[in-house]
Amino acid sequence: EMGLHAPQYPWDHAGLFSAYDHAAIRRGHQVYSQVCAACHSVNQLHYRDLVGVAYTEEEAKAMAAETEVEDGPNDEGESYTRPGRLSDPLPRPYANEEAARYANGGAYPPDLSLITKARHDGQNYVFALLLGYRDPPAGVSVREGLHYNPYFPGGAIAMPKMLADEGTEYEDGTVATEAQQAKDVTTFLAWAAEPEHDERKLMGAKWIFILAVVYVTAVYYKRWKWAPLK
Ligand code: HEM
Repeated sequence: EMGLHAPQYPWDHAGLFSAYDHAAIRRGHQVYSQVCAACHSVNQLHYRDLVGVAYTEEEAKAMAAETEVEDGPNDEGESYTRPGRLSDPLPRPYANEEAARYANGGAYPPDLSLITKARHDGQNYVFALLLGYRDPPAGVSVREGLHYNPYFPGGAIAMPKMLADEGTEYEDGTVATEAQQAKDVTTFLAWAAEPEHDERKLMGAKWIFILAVVYVTAVYYKRWKWAPLK
């Protein structure tokens, strides 16, 4: 059964010439780290990817250094832990899918790296899903351990409602309403799935400009060249 189709939201980066709101990516990373990272990985992301996008190199290094990474073998053939580096992936909450399911009553919190691409109308879906928790309509009952959410295919999801007003405190002073957090974390996930987005649109704009100049020049030159040959 399909989920309820998500409304269409006016994303800041949706326009032909629009880039991501990078302050939103940064706030979204904060929401991801403080809320979602407890259950969902973003396997494609490394700390270095955040540099120049949402954090300075120093900030990203400091964040990585706060994590403990298992590495090895060392010269004695043993594994050891060390502070994280820019080249390390963001930490995963579980060792594997079995451990993830075990911790979530059998349900699997999917990796979120590509979720805005993997799901139909992904950005609108994720945003609507996060805000879509409500009481089931009369006559609909939801199994123990599941939560009614019309945007999730089947209408009952194992993930509880995660966001609440003031659920986090933004360092940039933005008021952390539930919807603001949903918007920011969705922007972060959209960037994670499509980090080349800004560059792609900028290149597109440059190519359209250059081809327009070439076209006008070509038309002018053609007319000038052929003008005497009536
Ligand atoms: C599913 C996002 C936090 C557990 C999902 C899905 C999304 C999502 C988009 C649906 C994936 C799909 O369509 O298949 C998020 C975001 C979070 C967050 C953005 C933070 C704001 C959490 C947390 C937990 C959790 C903290 C664990 C306590 C799950 C589980 C599922 C799920 C178990 C699978 C649901 C099912 O198959 O019924 N999450 N999540 N999520 N999430 Fe989260």
